[in-house]
Amino acid sequence: MCGIVGYVGSARSTEVLLGGLRRLEYRGYDSAGIAVIDADGALSSAKKAGKLQVLADELAEHPIADGPTGIGHTRWATHGGPTDGNAHPHLADGGRLALIHNGIIENFAPLKAELLAEGVEFTSETDSEVAAHLVAREFRQTHDLTEAMRRTVALLEGAFTLLAVHADQPGVVVGARRNSPLVVGLGDGENFLGSDVAAFVSYTQRALAIGQDQIVTIRPDSVSVIDFDGNPADASEFEVNWDASAAEKGGWSSFMAKEISEEPEAVQKTLLGRVHDGAITLHDLEPIADRLQQVDRVIVIACGTAAYAGLLGKYAIEQWARVPVEVELAHEFRYRDPVLDGRTLVVSISQSGETMDTLMAVKYAREHGAQVLSICNTQGATIPRESDAVIYTHAGPEVAVASTKAFLAQGVALYLLGLHLATLRGTLSSEEIAAQVAELEALPPKLQQTIDDAADVTTLARWMADTRSVLFLGRHVGYPIALEGALKLKELAYIHAEGFAAGELKHGPIALIEPGQIVFVIVPSPRDPRSLHPKVVSNIQEIRARGARVIAIAEEGDAAVLPFADEVLRIPLASPLIEPLLAVAPLHMFAMELATAKGLDVDQPRNLAKSVTVE
Ligand code: G6P
Repeated sequence: MCGIVGYVGSARSTEVLLGGLRRLEYRGYDSAGIAVIDADGALSSAKKAGKLQVLADELAEHPIADGPTGIGHTRWATHGGPTDGNAHPHLADGGRLALIHNGIIENFAPLKAELLAEGVEFTSETDSEVAAHLVAREFRQTHDLTEAMRRTVALLEGAFTLLAVHADQPGVVVGARRNSPLVVGLGDGENFLGSDVAAFVSYTQRALAIGQDQIVTIRPDSVSVIDFDGNPADASEFEVNWDASAAEKGGWSSFMAKEISEEPEAVQKTLLGRVHDGAITLHDLEPIADRLQQVDRVIVIACGTAAYAGLLGKYAIEQWARVPVEVELAHEFRYRDPVLDGRTLVVSISQSGETMDTLMAVKYAREHGAQVLSICNTQGATIPRESDAVIYTHAGPEVAVASTKAFLAQGVALYLLGLHLATLRGTLSSEEIAAQVAELEALPPKLQQTIDDAADVTTLARWMADTRSVLFLGRHVGYPIALEGALKLKELAYIHAEGFAAGELKHGPIALIEPGQIVFVIVPSPRDPRSLHPKVVSNIQEIRARGARVIAIAEEGDAAVLPFADEVLRIPLASPLIEPLLAVAPLHMFAMELATAKGLDVDQPRNLAKSVTVE
């Protein structure tokens, strides 16, 4: 949350900064601002509450002097409301220094008191402005922005990425990071900084990941990195494996619509190179290969949609590899004194690789002796860097704030892990593994078929645009799918929605059923050896008897649900562990269509941010 971009190079900073902010707007959209130092060394800035377009309109009407050096910010408000005054950049040193911040400075209050006592005047309610005045104070002493930044970060507690420019040092942007993201884009005669590579990928695909507690200084022809003690530090270069067009809407009405349409491809790319001739090859696990043999417990940690993907993995890993799996919200995990040792495999899941709650849980797990495998969709992100091994999902950039295609890619990555562990532990025969691999390989075309056949979802969503509450029921793998369906509806359409395990219904949630209550039910396959199908059909009858309107998602040919459901959405046949994944796209589409019918912005829902870098 909060998007950060920095640039040094040609005299077109404004264009680069606004373009970068447009791609980072998923990180926050309460306000936006830029500061630019022109060729004569004069610093100008502009900032406006509201979405980036408000700032762009303001700059079109009242342009600021363009120049070769600049920083830009898009905000998700923490300290101080979303006003013009609280927008970044924050100025100091009589308007000669500008600073932007992502994160929370936890000790801002005593620092502010100290600065006020020194006669500094504050113009915002933010924690961030403290950092601007501190860098300015240190700059007056050192006349060097890098050193001023280094002295400042030594005073700060909390999480931050800071970028600063000073009119006395044109052609320089200095960045620092602790527990918030920062990557460098390496150009030719120009260099870039961004919260993620999306900020600069239309200019360069060469990137440097800046490590924890490091300071980077970019000039048009150089990039230097030091640690917080001032020692030279290494930063690892990598090539961004997608181009700018992948993060464009490309004719779709929204990123959400585009990303749901990419769900089959996200699964296919995540499988690519990892399944061969009916077997699993996970080179990604080589760094932990030795210890993987000894694993006796798996704990999955994640937040939001990623946690529901984790729950999918629990069913698959336990069934196939016979290892106990716990799934825990990352922010709960590290505060409950979990029991960890060298035989515990902690699997963290994060699309962005930057979610602070998950990052802190990863660090905690490693500090307490567990090995950490991350499942992540973003190269150069912090969580994979802090982990022992990483399985990258290859879902491609996800721009819409609510996660969709990454969910399926994460689920499939966990299924691959389950089959890998089953191979290692000899809990499945090679024939059984080959059968599951074939099921996974068949998933992308089946997902495509589900999406192609989902016209009914649009009609249903429009018909239900005024509904105030929707319940989702599922069992077994269908349960996390129900949770995801409910979360998506909350996130996109601001409708009360709850996902329940269908068996739990009679223990409380059935009291919610009143005439007209809409309930989606993910129906297990009648072929499921656990005989869950008749139980869920009974659940449907129980809620119908109390007036619920039931929309069943059931496999092709399942006639048993027809008499009891008001609507039936069909999904293709697959194995019991995999088939419920086919219900995901209709639920994602339902949430999107219903939100669209309500006239809401499905890409940037209110109050949310994609990459939540505060606890
Ligand atoms: C935010 C987003 C969710 C996402 C969650 C975890 O809350 O709004 O859509 O599922 O973060 O994000 P991650 O990047 O860690 O998967």
